[in-house]
Amino acid sequence: MDRIIIRGGTRLRGTVRASGAKNAALPLLAASLLAHTGTTTLLDVPTLGDVQAMIHLLRALGADVQCDGTRVRVHAQYARLFAPPRDWVAQLRASFTLLGPLLARHGEAIMPLPGGCAIGTRPIDQHMKALRALGADIDIGQGMVRAAAPPQGLTGAVIALDVASVGATQNAMMAACLAKGTTVISNAACEPEIIDLAHFLCAMGAHIDGAGTPHICITGVAQLRAVTHTVIPDRIEAGTYMIAAAMTGGRVYVERARSAHMRALIVALEQMGVQMTSDEGGIFVRAPDPLCAMDIDTAPHPGFPTDLQAPMMALMLRAHGTSTMRERVFENRYQHVAHLCRMGGQIDVRGDTATLHGPCALVGADVAATDLRAAAALLVAALAAKGETTMTGVHHLDRGYMECAARLRTLGAHITRTKVPMRMHVPSLA
Ligand code: EPZ
Repeated sequence: MDRIIIRGGTRLRGTVRASGAKNAALPLLAASLLAHTGTTTLLDVPTLGDVQAMIHLLRALGADVQCDGTRVRVHAQYARLFAPPRDWVAQLRASFTLLGPLLARHGEAIMPLPGGCAIGTRPIDQHMKALRALGADIDIGQGMVRAAAPPQGLTGAVIALDVASVGATQNAMMAACLAKGTTVISNAACEPEIIDLAHFLCAMGAHIDGAGTPHICITGVAQLRAVTHTVIPDRIEAGTYMIAAAMTGGRVYVERARSAHMRALIVALEQMGVQMTSDEGGIFVRAPDPLCAMDIDTAPHPGFPTDLQAPMMALMLRAHGTSTMRERVFENRYQHVAHLCRMGGQIDVRGDTATLHGPCALVGADVAATDLRAAAALLVAALAAKGETTMTGVHHLDRGYMECAARLRTLGAHITRTKVPMRMHVPSLA
């Protein structure tokens, strides 16, 4: 059990490079199962806990996966299994995007129901709707999902999603690529990670139009081939570093940050008074005092990303005036609030809306991260807090931020990571 200790008050300065996107790499790894022959090579894959879990699942399905730093090679020709191990699926909700590729490739798939998590119940009804529309027979029982394609395989269909679900859009795209005929997905998710998946599938030989818009059209093909593909930069990681730079009043260049992927964040930061200039290599951020309060609603892309809601709330505590944050994507994504308040944040939560009163004189405290983006929020707050913050639950951070403490140290932060010995149970001598 590690913990991170941060002594706040340093203005971050320097350059930090955005890694490959976790939320692009995970579906790309799942999609590599669709290549009947050859070896898929993915470049700039972040070395994160979630990615290692997905790689373990691919190996458990019979794929040969070789990792060399941020390069991952997948040979899936002999991946004949279609039921990934239950315990590993439970650890990684994103593994549910294996369902579409397994169904498309093997005609069947058996997977545990992905559990809910700290941020919400995470239902799968849209995934089921999409795959059933393609002709799959799906039975859910005893905590398992059993999906089977008809003997003639999946058939193209019109899929009208009720929710612009990223995962359901990805499962539908991957299954439809090998279905007979044409599929139209309406109300599709528009995230950059959807576009990256479509680029990858098209390079493999798929026919996909409209990725990045709410209407995606896919014409099925008989086979897909292995290719080489570079994962897009992580817009959430890059955005978190931009927020951290603003929080500390620093001057930071976030290499590989793509303004086209982060329009909503950039607009929000500019409205707060943060100054940014972008070039083809990245985005330079500096934040004079004071910052202005503002109101944000999270929304599916191109709206303000829910994954930056927590770190942005930390920044709002530095702004002068009353800000509001309305979380409209997930139903329980305010678990960082209690810990931000322990650090001196003035935050009231009513329903889906948090009201923040700033500026707050944040003070270091002992805090615990409850999920990935909550960990990021506490880190951002600690960087600007007076005194020392000790954060536990660091494993959450490792799921989405590669070498985070080391990178922040290169920007001048006073941050150390220590191993806390597991609490030894010493039986009483009585
Ligand atoms: C992806 O999760 C991301 N994860 C999440 O990032 C991100 O927060 C989310 O998209 C929204 O942008 C990965 O890409 C691995 P959804 P996903 O299906 O696909 C509801 C992070 O921190 N819904 O778009 O699981 C659902 O309850 C993670 O990196 C249904 O109602 O998200 C939620 O309210 C967290 N029925 C909304 O849609 C369904 O069948 C968005 O969920 C599916 C989803």
